[in-house]
Amino acid sequence: MADFLSQYSIQRWIEMCPQGYLENTVYGRGPDEHEPEAILDDTEQRDAAISSTVQLVVGERCALAASSGLINAAPDYPSKRFLATQTLDEARHVEVFTQRLFDLGVKKDDLEDTVQEHANPNLVKFAEVLLEKVGNGDFLAGVVGQNIVLEGMAFTVFELLETANKELNPKFAHTLSGTIADERRHVGFGENRIGSLVREHPEKKPEIEQMQQEMTYYMLATFADAFSGPQVQPAEPPTGEADFHGTNLATATPEEMEAVLSNTVLGEFKTRLDRIGLEYQSPPVPA
Ligand SMILES: [Fe+2]
Ligand SMILES: [Fe+2]
Repeated sequence: MADFLSQYSIQRWIEMCPQGYLENTVYGRGPDEHEPEAILDDTEQRDAAISSTVQLVVGERCALAASSGLINAAPDYPSKRFLATQTLDEARHVEVFTQRLFDLGVKKDDLEDTVQEHANPNLVKFAEVLLEKVGNGDFLAGVVGQNIVLEGMAFTVFELLETANKELNPKFAHTLSGTIADERRHVGFGENRIGSLVREHPEKKPEIEQMQQEMTYYMLATFADAFSGPQVQPAEPPTGEADFHGTNLATATPEEMEAVLSNTVLGEFKTRLDRIGLEYQSPPVPA
């Protein structure tokens, strides 16, 4: 517990995060960085960027609701303190991705309508499954749903987006890299805290595994929606390699992108669930 205490303390968070990788950033990016003209000047690309950023806002709003809701459900003070830092991280993620919507030209008064219009219904369902557990004060299921499933997904999606945007949009890639560093800490907490609780409460396993299966179903359906239909190609395709787990994102088809993303996330789930003593449950294939 001593290790756990210092590794996930507020002091450590201050040193690593606000005084570490976030120092001198403005909304998570460099002070002089902007969205590229190529995106702002092209209606199709701008709309595609708004739509994909809305999904990030929806996911982060769910993470904010879950991490703050879990503070009162947590059985011990080190976990409550960590979740308080995570709550601020998630609120920051909501803020930086909302700020990106404004940078892309969404008017402040139109924010909620824009989110409503573009939010993927499957992603909304994914969030509802998790928030029901949190609402019931179920700490064990809530942490698995949030820190293993939601964040295992977010982490991988952010890494894919960061790789794809490094060359095309360094401003967005930098916002993502700070977020990825936060998510890495959150996922680590989930694994470290929850393993012993799962061992103490084996009777909870079936319910948690069912939640994981449902969340995975809606996640894969969200990915399928995101990569179906016409894809907007960047005006200037990246010239360098954008390698993501063996797939070059600069030349990959939408099907190849969906496959590498799904396979990477599911691989993460299996590894992490296994470490905490749960068995990954495959969902039915989305229609
Ligand atoms: Fe987050
Ligand atoms: Fe997170």
